Amino acid sequence: MSQVLLEKIDRIAWVTLNRPDKLNALNHEVLHELERVFADLEQDVEVGVVVVTGAGEKAFVAGADIGELKDLDTAGARVLALRGQAVFQRIESMPKPVIAAVNGFALGGGCELALACHIRIASENARFGLPEVSLGIIPGYGGTQRLPRLVGKGVALDLILSGEMTPAADALRMGLVSRVVPQAELRATAEKLARTLLSRGPLALRSALTAVNEGLEMPQEQGLLFEAALFGLLAATTDMQEGMGAFLEKRQAQFKGL
Ligand code: COA
Repeated sequence: MSQVLLEKIDRIAWVTLNRPDKLNALNHEVLHELERVFADLEQDVEVGVVVVTGAGEKAFVAGADIGELKDLDTAGARVLALRGQAVFQRIESMPKPVIAAVNGFALGGGCELALACHIRIASENARFGLPEVSLGIIPGYGGTQRLPRLVGKGVALDLILSGEMTPAADALRMGLVSRVVPQAELRATAEKLARTLLSRGPLALRSALTAVNEGLEMPQEQGLLFEAALFGLLAATTDMQEGMGAFLEKRQAQFKGL
């Protein structure tokens, strides 16, 4: 049985981490499969939105597989961190929206996986945390970089240094997730959000992701120029004509990604 399940339904790709007996912990094989799945999804023109979730009702992903971490030496640990970072970077750089539907524990590498996704929604029972310091290590799949960019340095350092778990309601307050729903409604909520995104201009979504992701790494003045350049490029698209035409004609836009 594959440890990462991929289902494509009506332009939505559902990626499910599937090791429920180990709370979907990320071992080498899972990382490898995740990389392969996202390489496929990046190219697949039939897929407009990706949703990442965990199998079972208890965990999204409870972290990197501690059994595999235990015997690492310095070189091996560094290589593993770079590998995990590269896989998650690929997710963050996806040219189509990636939603994390966090259905339970999102700890360590699981929290970092959610951080690499573009939008995070969570079920009420979800719990977030970076417990690495309690194992004598630090987050290695991007947590020390993405969390402060998302929630600010102070809150990020609280989570990273305390290693404590944060319930979904507090994660919402911190801005770590943007929506929290009862567990039974998580899939439907993710699907509804995915459908909303599918109704938007795909080139506009792609440009918005690029503007935010790359712009955040620039001084604001350069980011604004970058935004204006992308705004200009979109003015040359058929999708812009369609979007504005549809508004003026009071009909639903039919975007073609052109
Ligand atoms: N790596 C490897 N195995 C893990 C794991 C991880 N990160 N997280 C959970 N598991 C395994 C457990 O070893 C257990 O396996 P077993 O049944 O073969 O003994 C199984 O998943 C169920 O976990 P368990 O600890 O029994 O569940 P729980 O409900 O008592 O506790 C957690 C849930 C999430 C609090 C606890 O599993 C935990 O603290 N996990 C580690 C979290 C962590 O430190 N992650 C960061 C890693 S860098």
